[in-house]
Amino acid sequence: MARVIPPMTEISPTRKVSVVDGNADPAVKEEFGVLEGTLGPDVVDVRTLYGRTGYFTFDPSFMATASCQSKITFIDGDEGVLLYRGYGIDELAERSDFVEVAYLLLYGELPTADERREFEVAITNHTMVHEQLLYLFRGFRRDAHPMAIMVGVVGALSAFYHDSIDIDDPDARKIASFRLIAKMPTIAAMAYKYSVGQPFIYPRNDLNYAERFLHMMFAVPSEEYQISPVLARAIDRILILHADHEQNASTSTVRLAGSSGANPFACIAAGIACLWGPAHGGANEAVLNMLEDIGTADRIPEFITRAKDKQDPFRLMGFGHRVYKNYDPRATVLRETCHEVLDELGVQDEPLLEIAMELERIAVEDDYFVKRQLYPNVDFYSGIILRAMGIPSHLFTVVFALARTVGWVAQWNEMIEDPSQKIGRPRQLYTGYGPRKYTPIDQRS
Ligand code: SDX
Repeated sequence: MARVIPPMTEISPTRKVSVVDGNADPAVKEEFGVLEGTLGPDVVDVRTLYGRTGYFTFDPSFMATASCQSKITFIDGDEGVLLYRGYGIDELAERSDFVEVAYLLLYGELPTADERREFEVAITNHTMVHEQLLYLFRGFRRDAHPMAIMVGVVGALSAFYHDSIDIDDPDARKIASFRLIAKMPTIAAMAYKYSVGQPFIYPRNDLNYAERFLHMMFAVPSEEYQISPVLARAIDRILILHADHEQNASTSTVRLAGSSGANPFACIAAGIACLWGPAHGGANEAVLNMLEDIGTADRIPEFITRAKDKQDPFRLMGFGHRVYKNYDPRATVLRETCHEVLDELGVQDEPLLEIAMELERIAVEDDYFVKRQLYPNVDFYSGIILRAMGIPSHLFTVVFALARTVGWVAQWNEMIEDPSQKIGRPRQLYTGYGPRKYTPIDQRS
């Protein structure tokens, strides 16, 4: 049987810090424990702050807030390091594959050959969707954005799989996790086929995860589809690179939704909705639109100027990151994969890649970007590869969601199994009106 993740344990403070407010009446002087992790910043345990001092903390975008304890992924933003369960992303992208990485993220260890085989068979046995789900697609317009379809269809899975929504049952959580990981490629490919008016292609269980996705995307009933091993390897590597990323906005959404006891399908649908935003996973589609808007390298300075202009809402899509203040290591791998895929496809000169590389060269030397430590992120090159593979830009974030489902599921399971987890319920700094009396409408001015 698959390994069981070692349970989350309560960690004890290693030292104390004090909160002092001499102006308060009575004066406040309280000590709080400092908790140390394996890597990264230590944290001040403020869980009793309000009860002991009457103060909340204020951190609207969670710039300095650890929302949970996790053992899954670690990012060193200054060094540009990304670890999945301690393994470097560059090594995993080079030597592993997505199914093995999914096992690693879920169970914490690289699988033995038997464990991998058992896991892969379990996932493969859930690749089809309920036949009734096909009728759900007919309610969408053919030109619906595929992310809108993903939010709707994945959320609707909870209407089909009642036997795996009891989140307190580990076996139900396991089968729901397998169903989500197995069915996301099928639903993603269905969203694409629906948008181009082609028949849905059923999953072929004799293919591996990446090959199966490409086959469902591009095969047609009327002829044999030849899967390119290089493209299959490229999409597999893209899935590895996008699989998890600590407590990013969509993962935090999944955790918060899950903290209320919502079923896993609804939680993942919430994560898909959050990922869609252009500041997050929607950036890969926005990058391609930006590169097409730039059109030629001689227009790059115009867009760099706009990106620096505070009066202009335009930002350089695919640049910058809340955590990375160095190159996003995923962007580095994707830039290399870009060249491999274009070479394999015999694409001599991809103008968008030329523009992207020139844009990167100019931006990383520009003082505005250097001072703000803005570097290419995971979304900067991914779209160029996906487009070269024949995947349309409005499907880029769907591919991101397909990959991130593994991370969302792993983080959701970790949250559910954490004995200290409670429903997430942030407080606020209220700056609205104080109490006031109701005024009848004939007395209002
Ligand atoms: C993902 O969190 C994750 O882990 C996400 C992700 C994952 O795997 O889950 O890595 C995936 O979402 C990658 C990011 C994709 N988004 C984009 O590429 C959109 C463009 N990037 C920006 O919107 C921005 O960089 C964010 C949203 C990614 C990060 O924004 P922050 O951390 O809130 O930073 P900020 O907005 O406070 O910016 C700091 C400064 C500001 O200038 P000043 O006010 O200091 O003068 O940098 C500027 C910003 O104006 N800035 C940019 C910029 N990004 C930041 N200026 C121009 N172009 C940009 N792209």
